[in-house]
Amino acid sequence: MLYRDNTNKVIDESRQGEALADTVGLGRKLYLETYGCQMNFADSEIVASVLKEHGFGTTPIMEEADVVMVNTCAIRDNAEQRVRGRLDLFRSLKKNNPDVIIGVMGCMAERLKDKLLEEEKVVDIVVGPDAYRQLPALIAEAETGQKAVNVLLSREETYADISPVRLGGNGVCAFISITRGCDNMCSFCVVPFTRGRERSRDPQSIVNEARDLFERGYREVTLLGQNVDSYLWTEALPSKKEIMKARAEGVDVGETCSFAQLMERVALISPDLRVRFSTSHPKDMTDDVLHVMAKYENVCSYIHLPVQSGNSELLEKMNRGYTRKWYLDRIATIRSIVPDCGISTDIITGFCGETEEQHRETLTLMDEVGFDFAYMFMYSERPGTLAARKFNDDIPEEVKNRRLQEVIDLQMRSSEISNQKDVGKTFRVLVEGESKRSDQDLQGRTPHNKVVVFPRQHFKKGDYVSVIVEDCTRATLKGKAVS
Ligand code: SAH
Ligand code: SF4
Ligand code: F3S
Repeated sequence: MLYRDNTNKVIDESRQGEALADTVGLGRKLYLETYGCQMNFADSEIVASVLKEHGFGTTPIMEEADVVMVNTCAIRDNAEQRVRGRLDLFRSLKKNNPDVIIGVMGCMAERLKDKLLEEEKVVDIVVGPDAYRQLPALIAEAETGQKAVNVLLSREETYADISPVRLGGNGVCAFISITRGCDNMCSFCVVPFTRGRERSRDPQSIVNEARDLFERGYREVTLLGQNVDSYLWTEALPSKKEIMKARAEGVDVGETCSFAQLMERVALISPDLRVRFSTSHPKDMTDDVLHVMAKYENVCSYIHLPVQSGNSELLEKMNRGYTRKWYLDRIATIRSIVPDCGISTDIITGFCGETEEQHRETLTLMDEVGFDFAYMFMYSERPGTLAARKFNDDIPEEVKNRRLQEVIDLQMRSSEISNQKDVGKTFRVLVEGESKRSDQDLQGRTPHNKVVVFPRQHFKKGDYVSVIVEDCTRATLKGKAVS
């Protein structure tokens, strides 16, 4: 499936804005909507867990709720507009029930802070991504009729000790955050401002969470971070940046755990627990990670490696830390160490000053790599970012849009070719549930992250099934189970 503009990676679009239900206890009720990336979905599970401890159950029915929270994204302007639209709806909700508490959490809350309270009178609580432990206190404050705000960012908070309440998933696949924040400062990106400094979570808590999920019947975990390759943990220091600095000063930082080592520890939990990860960064992805992927069959042969642009000058302006050649070399290395690895990417069209020639270099790079899948976006200027301060957002909307369409058209052909290459091959598919079209069919994904639909027979959710691919569309493989 190709998204024109969707921040939400692997998660199915149908989960956008979905009310997440899990009613517990007789306490008050929380209605929670989530927008944005997988990390936001993982955070919503942390929030549900924090509030569950305080007697809150969740409800899928907004009108029944005592507290309505919306977990927001700020990555592009249209992500914020979507949330503004929801706030309009909450306004009419509050008209009918003046006691309901309305909270905005996540990246838009962090970006706008108390300005959000001025602009949106309906909002009672504004809470940033590092302050979710404070939510019960913020709700109590809002209940006294005060507006409540906590947007403090932390250098240490990883919610490592909180075991998330799993919301709205399929009971087979789960997300586990391994880092929070980002230190990269890509010039177009708001995330370092909304999520704060990068920090890595204690590996033991990650392994424990993954093992617990496996014991409860889950069969796939996706390790999440804005840049998983910069995961580096040591007892004393919270982030790779600080560890590297201390090392450079000759300080003994003690025992460390890298991303490759972490992934190996998770892979060793059981050969029946699949491991995925997202997102990899071309400047930081090491061969160690690729060797772990090659060594363990249960580490899926799939990498999401956002390129953003095919032109080196533009990449420099974006502050991405690599060139076109570096990126293409990384792709060649992936393919030599992990043959048949699925590769997807993110692309931005119409970044500041992008010439026609530079845009064509994105197209030729796409051609050279032949991505299996891509998320493609028009550049959207974000206030406060390096690009907003330094460069002119000078590409007209219709040019951005036309370039985006060219990128999308090319990717559609590429995805189709990639799927056709899989016809005749057999894959180990993890069944995630019924197919959307027919209850006679099941659907799951191959290790390289393609959706496969096949006749149900006696198989069920959570089974691993060898499926031979017989046909495909641009978005889906179709096949049948082989013994
Ligand atoms: N940490 C990930 C990206 C997270 S944001 C990484 O570095 O790859 C997901 C994607 O949104 C980015 O890869 C980028 O393609 C897109 N994006 C981020 N900021 C954007 C902006 N201002 N306008 C348009 N797209 C943007
Ligand atoms: Fe944003 Fe760059 Fe960090 Fe990704 S790596 S979250 S694009 S700053
Ligand atoms: Fe959006 Fe924040 Fe994720 S800006 S993409 S929800 S980290």
